[in-house]
Amino acid sequence: MIVEVRGLRKVYEGKQQVIAVDGIDLNVEEGAIYGLLGPNGAGKTTTISICTTRAIPTAGTVRIAGIDCVAEPALARRSIGVVPQYNTLDRSCTISENIYFHCLFFGFSSADAKARTAQLLEQFHLTERVKSYPSQLSGGLAQRVQIARAIAHRPKVLFLDEPSAGLDPQSRIAMWEAVQGLRHEGITVVLTTHYMEEADELCDRVAIIDHGKILVEDSPAALKSSVGAQKMYQLHLRDQSGSSALAGKLGTMEGVASADVVGDGVRVLAHGTDGLLSEVVSAAAPYGLRDMTITETSLETVFIKLTGRDLRE
Ligand SMILES: Nc1ncnc2c1ncn2[C@@H]1O[C@H](COP(=O)(O)OP(=O)(O)O)[C@@H](O)[C@H]1O
Ligand SMILES: [Mg+2]
Repeated sequence: MIVEVRGLRKVYEGKQQVIAVDGIDLNVEEGAIYGLLGPNGAGKTTTISICTTRAIPTAGTVRIAGIDCVAEPALARRSIGVVPQYNTLDRSCTISENIYFHCLFFGFSSADAKARTAQLLEQFHLTERVKSYPSQLSGGLAQRVQIARAIAHRPKVLFLDEPSAGLDPQSRIAMWEAVQGLRHEGITVVLTTHYMEEADELCDRVAIIDHGKILVEDSPAALKSSVGAQKMYQLHLRDQSGSSALAGKLGTMEGVASADVVGDGVRVLAHGTDGLLSEVVSAAAPYGLRDMTITETSLETVFIKLTGRDLRE
């Protein structure tokens, strides 16, 4: 395993003690694209910060390519590339200088740094923007520069913290393509996200994280099939007095995997049974059915089933 996290814990002391990471174990196979999916405050950034030697754990160990990140941070950093949650490009340098100085920092000769910079600008379709400054770039372009810079010293593992936060949909897809392209270079990718589509689309394996703990870990397909249903109906009622009676009634219907009271109504996980929708609507109508949303089972459904909450809440 190229990334091995064992019993990781991080407690922030202060007026109020915060347990940001509460006993996490991770194994990432070489060459994989691995996702940490969870809502805001789940502990994703803290986990990444420890893995990338930017924070010290309260307990536990992290090994990257066999190197202990806490005991030997400087050595570990040679194997690690990082794209943090916020843009950290040097605003006083052009994009080409940002990459070039990164190479020098990691011990490249001036000639090698020049060659590597030119190659990365080409690879990430940035050649027309060589002389631009970070402030002149769109969010999507800036993110591409950050990825190019992060892999300039040829790390074994690239960590991306919320790589598509704040990107428009088109730039997000371009970023996904850039990350997928790293497979051919043998770079292992660990990314965090709270977008379930991103985890689903991009990752070979996903760990769903909440309150500093990993709830489940598997391939996106296996996680989705673990729900045991193909559809989710969210029934919104005019008043909640009848929700538990309705949930009880729906729970016994053929084709319904589960029915639970949530928020302003009932959430039904259903098998793709033909005709079930109209039966559910008829059953719910006397209880003041106001509105209904239907979604395909997704990683969001997995999270909802595990926690009773939406990822976005
Ligand atoms: N430097 C810090 N001091 C105190 N609490 C922190 C600090 N950094 C993060 N936290 C808290 O730790 C928890 C996890 O945060 P974080 O790792 O940033 O989660 P995520 O990246 O999943 O949104 C949150 O409750 C957050 O408020
Ligand atoms: Mg974060």
